[in-house]
Amino acid sequence: MPLILGLESSCDETAAAVVRADRTILAHQLAGQEAAHRPFGGVVPEIAARAHVEMLTPLVEAALDEAGVGLSEIDAIAATAGPGLIGGVMVGLVTGKALALAAGKPLIAVNHLEGHALSPRLADPSLSFPYLLLLVSGGHCQLLLVEGAGRYRRLATTIDDAAGEAFDKTAKLLGLGFPGGPAVERAALAGNAMAVPLPRPLLGSAEPHFSFAGLKSAVLRARDAGLYQAEDIAASFQQAVVDCLIDRTRRTLRAVDTTALVVAGGVAANKAVRGALEALAAEHGLPFIAPPLWLCTDNAAMIAWAGAERYEAGMFDGLDIPARARWPLDPSAEKARGAGVKA
Ligand code: KG4
Ligand code: ZN
Repeated sequence: MPLILGLESSCDETAAAVVRADRTILAHQLAGQEAAHRPFGGVVPEIAARAHVEMLTPLVEAALDEAGVGLSEIDAIAATAGPGLIGGVMVGLVTGKALALAAGKPLIAVNHLEGHALSPRLADPSLSFPYLLLLVSGGHCQLLLVEGAGRYRRLATTIDDAAGEAFDKTAKLLGLGFPGGPAVERAALAGNAMAVPLPRPLLGSAEPHFSFAGLKSAVLRARDAGLYQAEDIAASFQQAVVDCLIDRTRRTLRAVDTTALVVAGGVAANKAVRGALEALAAEHGLPFIAPPLWLCTDNAAMIAWAGAERYEAGMFDGLDIPARARWPLDPSAEKARGAGVKA
């Protein structure tokens, strides 16, 4: 049974994990950098890259210790090769290459988005291809038909901000702290989602895409109006995001053949988002599958698991594979309209 060492360093989490192809997570080590970035109210790429340099190798040692295996017993090294902050991606990929070279093991270069996209299959063995995935993270908001490892059809994407980015910017505007998503969710618990009238961009639109920039501007105006509590703005904002995600997902769900409705990425940790998607799946008579919360946000178990799926498919990479800041899962997807289009 193949044993995969996974490395993740594309944003502000440094992580190493050992996962077996039968879905056993033998080790899962993670070091966050929240304290280092908090004074700046967002992730500072240079600080992130330096922290990955310090933390990644000790985490690899800790993961091998936790798993009770030596490097020689690992069958392949899976490292995130993009997309993400390029300094961090380079740290993880070069570490992966060095380990692969030293141990004489194959390298598997994993697309970070593929890590998120396949993570629901690590948690739930019953999930089979093809499935409709709502991938909602700090950098992305996409609907993908997942047909297999390396086989994705992008059906919708955001024409401006990602959903997690909207949460982060709203938290910053409301002074709720960093990281933004969990802070907005916490504040929303104490607020009234009906209190502040906010727009639902592209709701009911014939095109499949998402948009959140207008919502963020409306949050700014609501704050500056001085009429509302931050908790009420947070709750109303979260409800607007949920309404947009559900409307857009329902539109695409009607048009695809899928085994399940699946959500992944950091925003999938949000309970209001999960609850609404669960109801949408029930509406369509489909199973709803979401990874456990810790597997939604960045981690290395999902990278090791994507590595395991690729290992089984014989998909390996040469030591000359580049690190990429941008790397779409479906390069053939048409560009969504508008400037500032995300990959
Ligand atoms: O997948 P992820 O950990 O990193 C990326 O690949 O982007 O996603 C991070 C994003 C951030 O924007 C964060 O604010 C958001 O996920 N997030 C949440 C929650 N937890 C994390 N958004 C809303 N509610 C949450 N509970
Ligand atoms: Zn991520």
